[in-house]
Amino acid sequence: MNRFKTLGLAALVAASFIAGQAMAAGGHDTKTPERQSWSFGGPFGTFDRAQLQRGFKVFREVCANCHSANRIAFRNLSQAGGPEFSEAQVKALAAEYKVKDGPGDDGNMFERPGRPADRWPAVYANAEAAKATLGAVPPDLSVIAKARSYSRGFPLFLVDPIIQYQEHGVDYIYSLLALGYDDPKDPNHNSYFPGGRIGMGAPLSDGQVEYTDGTPETVKSYARDVAAYLMWMAEPKLEERKKTGFRVMAFLILFAGLLYFTKKRVWAGAH
Ligand code: HEC
Repeated sequence: MNRFKTLGLAALVAASFIAGQAMAAGGHDTKTPERQSWSFGGPFGTFDRAQLQRGFKVFREVCANCHSANRIAFRNLSQAGGPEFSEAQVKALAAEYKVKDGPGDDGNMFERPGRPADRWPAVYANAEAAKATLGAVPPDLSVIAKARSYSRGFPLFLVDPIIQYQEHGVDYIYSLLALGYDDPKDPNHNSYFPGGRIGMGAPLSDGQVEYTDGTPETVKSYARDVAAYLMWMAEPKLEERKKTGFRVMAFLILFAGLLYFTKKRVWAGAH
């Protein structure tokens, strides 16, 4: 009986291995994203404020020219656990944008300067308008870092749920932006995009965004920083969640210890 179980398990493992290989082959020349180390990874991870602020700069100056991010409001940028800009900075930033409001007393919509409570304004009114100009629909970036995932194939996919590896999305975004455009003859080739051809030309180039803290102004730094920023947008309460998780674990361990000693005491004279 036991032999059969072992055999069955071996067959299952072999089958999933073959399925994994077949899936990888099906994606043509799609590569598996490179795993990066992130400050916010692991059970105690926290965001690097300076990195989020740089990432926001890249997002604002480059990505937001095409992509929307309609789930964040300006004021989120000053909240704890994020880039933590000051309230004055956020107020000034919001005021640089024009926001549609209304209808006013005359029944017409009007434009006014943005306020911290406004959502991040999109350049294109809708997906059709964006497609008409860009040729493809740029997805909203609010939760993209969590929406993109992939199996790292055998054997890592067995370990990922155990080690709670949740940075697939950011690894993918980093690889897509920093490493994927590797065919000089085809500007729409991207080794990490499913299928290998993407409707977005390489959005980043060295020196494009100015950094004031000495971080190198390279495609790789921009890609890392903007990926981290997209992770914060997708999970603004990440730090809180990890803190709570740690407290719960500490409590459970303490509680288990107390139960153990109580049990010992209660049963001490039982035999
Ligand atoms: C010139 C416009 C433009 C700019 C600038 C731009 N993108 Fe895109 N992006 C697009 C379009 C269009 C698509 C859709 C491509 C497709 O579906 O083939 C896209 C797709 C994507 C995707 C989706 C990939 C997927 O798995 O579906 C991500 C992630 C992305 N962009 C991130 C970024 C980031 C981060 C930046 C800033 C560094 C950026 N983009 C700048 C136009 C742009």
